[in-house]
Amino acid sequence: MSLTGKKIVLGVSGGIAVYKAVDLVSRLRKKGAEVKVVMTEAATKFVTPLTFRELSANPVVVSMWGEVHEFNVEHIALACWADLFVVAPATANIIAKMATGIADDMLSTTLLATPAQIVICPAMNTNMYEHPITKANLQKLLDLGYKVLPAAEGHLACGTSGAGRLPEPQAIVEYLEQTIVAAQDLAGLNILVTAAGTREAIDPVRYISNHSSGKMGYAIAQAAIARGAQVTLISGPSNLPVPAKVNFIAVDSAREMHAAVLDYFTQADIVIKAAAVADYRPKEVSSQKIKKQADANLTIVLEKNPDILADLGQKKTKQFLVGFAAETNDLISNAQEKLRKKNLDMIVANDVTLSGAGFNADTNIVKLLYPDGEICSLEQMSKTKVANILLDCILAKRKI
Ligand code: C5P
Repeated sequence: MSLTGKKIVLGVSGGIAVYKAVDLVSRLRKKGAEVKVVMTEAATKFVTPLTFRELSANPVVVSMWGEVHEFNVEHIALACWADLFVVAPATANIIAKMATGIADDMLSTTLLATPAQIVICPAMNTNMYEHPITKANLQKLLDLGYKVLPAAEGHLACGTSGAGRLPEPQAIVEYLEQTIVAAQDLAGLNILVTAAGTREAIDPVRYISNHSSGKMGYAIAQAAIARGAQVTLISGPSNLPVPAKVNFIAVDSAREMHAAVLDYFTQADIVIKAAAVADYRPKEVSSQKIKKQADANLTIVLEKNPDILADLGQKKTKQFLVGFAAETNDLISNAQEKLRKKNLDMIVANDVTLSGAGFNADTNIVKLLYPDGEICSLEQMSKTKVANILLDCILAKRKI
């Protein structure tokens, strides 16, 4: 995977190596990434925000209290926007703040709020870099899943020589490219995904179903596999190719899906129910094809299907439970109601009447809702991108 199209937030903290971050911005942009820069006050003493603004072609944020660039809570908007968050140079101070959860300026607050992968590029005097506190802080962040590009050795601005130099921008770019390719951040996790619509038989040749293509659920399964998870995909009928390395279970009806989901539920760490399950099924299934009657209506009586997700909400122990809410009206309130009623950890809400969203589309426009009332709104993007952001957000929430 390349950096093309990646949204990178570059956090710049105050050390002499800030000048290298200027070059880094221009290299990242040459690779096709979009870059937004957040600086600490101290960093602005070395290089002005204007330089970063011109090179990134985006406003630079420094203060929590300055001019607003977007009509959103700015640090949350930036935090959600990022595919990747790079801190270069990262001083001992910002590393200590990250390791202890201090959020007292724009950069530290945005770092605490982001669900994106964070890459730290430390740069400081050798004694500070080798201080047991800095070492312990970096180890703690590594254990939490942050990536750290070790500082280089050589002549330092303070006149000494040793470890603590910010690696050259070219080396940072290469590290980022490798890190993205190799991001196996879901390794060891067992993820259960459901996808596509169910079919509820009327007779041997007819059924009731819906327009779900399975694209969203298959994209999630594929993204999770690429990131190292063990994935079981339980799918209603779909024309999509089955992603490689997935444990694939094909089902037809809601009741079949229910049984299959229960078989795999206990071993799952994360359950993502992207399937469009039929709420009702014909009460009687004719064993023979129903013949049309001249001038008579046909009445089919429907009975309720089990609500699989609500059942899982009752049964869940360790599982992180994610539902989908495809709505045509009152998106937020309907989704919040489902989140609460089904005892979910997250719900992905989408208005299926919007163009570029919902059934059969290759893109989606979703909002991620959490039980504490937090809502993260994503712009229109490919279902693959939605899948990856969804997985990032689940990982971030599971860490808490
Ligand atoms: O209540 P509603 O059907 O709108 O909720 C949608 C969510 O619930 C989806 O995640 C869907 O997979 C799940 N669901 C289910 N069993 C049903 C109906 C919906 O698991 N019978």
